[in-house]
Amino acid sequence: MTVDCGGSAVFTLVLCSMKYFLTRRHGKNSNRKESKAAYLQSIKYSSSDLEHATRNFHPNNKLGEGEFGEVFQGILADGTEVAVKKLITKPEQGTQEFLDTVKLITSARYQNLVKLTGWCLEGEQKFLVYEYLEQKSLAQVLLNQDTKVAIDWGVRCHIVIEIARGLAHLHESDPQIIHGNIQASNILLDKSFNPKIGDYGLRELFPDKATSSFGPHVAGNLGYLAPEYFLQGQLTEKADTFSFGVLALEIVGGRSNLDRNFAQERMLLLEWTWKLYEEARLADLVDPNLGKEYSEDEAFRLIHVALLCTQSSPATRPSMSRVLAMIIGDAGIRVFPSRPGILQQLLQAPLSQEAPATLEITTVVDDLHASPSGCCDS
Ligand SMILES: Nc1ncnc2c1ncn2[C@@H]1O[C@H](COP(=O)(O)OP(=O)(O)O)[C@@H](O)[C@H]1O
Ligand SMILES: [Mg+2]
Repeated sequence: MTVDCGGSAVFTLVLCSMKYFLTRRHGKNSNRKESKAAYLQSIKYSSSDLEHATRNFHPNNKLGEGEFGEVFQGILADGTEVAVKKLITKPEQGTQEFLDTVKLITSARYQNLVKLTGWCLEGEQKFLVYEYLEQKSLAQVLLNQDTKVAIDWGVRCHIVIEIARGLAHLHESDPQIIHGNIQASNILLDKSFNPKIGDYGLRELFPDKATSSFGPHVAGNLGYLAPEYFLQGQLTEKADTFSFGVLALEIVGGRSNLDRNFAQERMLLLEWTWKLYEEARLADLVDPNLGKEYSEDEAFRLIHVALLCTQSSPATRPSMSRVLAMIIGDAGIRVFPSRPGILQQLLQAPLSQEAPATLEITTVVDDLHASPSGCCDS
């Protein structure tokens, strides 16, 4: 009988090294968990910290109000400027859900996302503390007649590209984050006009807000919604692609997706874009305030990609990484768009605070499940 001493020694060695690596990995994971928990603890504030920072949530400090609550400008004890979001949550929304949301938001950290710098949970009061962005939102600087500023073409392109990059990052992060509410007011700008996406990761905390509450600009906000999301509550990353397309058109056109100051055919930006596309008059879409100071090639490329993003059928819309590649010219655009998914009934919707549920939006122009005419997805 022969004993294979060499074989068993190798076997033992393999077992030992496996055990060593597994223990190390486990050690690393638990270290990571511990440091994550320590980090979350280090950015925890008390409500009195936030009251001091915001002068007791003084109305003059109020920056605005959205579907998740009011936002106040504040200065922390160490002098850091912040934006404090006072969340409207129901008592049954538990502590764990809120902490999971805080974890999710901090895990997605990226240069094109508004950074969460703190949180506070005291009784039923929940707050999120964000870095303060000097230029506030794209809605204010681009779309609001009273507060808008001149934004040149290069900056507009930069804004579109960086939003696409930020969204691609959210969609590819682990766990994936679908924003569900991409619109101009959720794009914040720093002092150099670098855009950062805000309000990501909150969908999970407010699942019932999916399509039920759109703040004061009901009809305008509806214009960003993909038809399948609005009508059937189907939220996939392709709903974000749709909203991104509408937003890109707003940036090129310097106007809101629904503007009743225009004649009927121009009111809905998406419909107007499609008409101009069919008539090969895309230059008419570009913000007249730019004069001739823009690149026609770049503008047409952006519009073409925006039309691909807003196709009726989610399957035909490109992923955000594909969108990014097409905008920056790393990928060719080989697909021609068909008519985008337009919620025609927006035109009949009153410009009021009415909830969308009462708007009787019954049909969408195109067939939501139309078979792709050429899939541009990667
Ligand atoms: N981090 C921030 N820095 C500066 N301003 C902010 C910040 N977050 C939000 N705001 C301002 O507060 C307003 C309200 O924000 P929010 O509650 O998210 O509602 P909405 O996004 O619907 O406008 C925004 O439109 C923006 O002007
Ligand atoms: Mg917001």
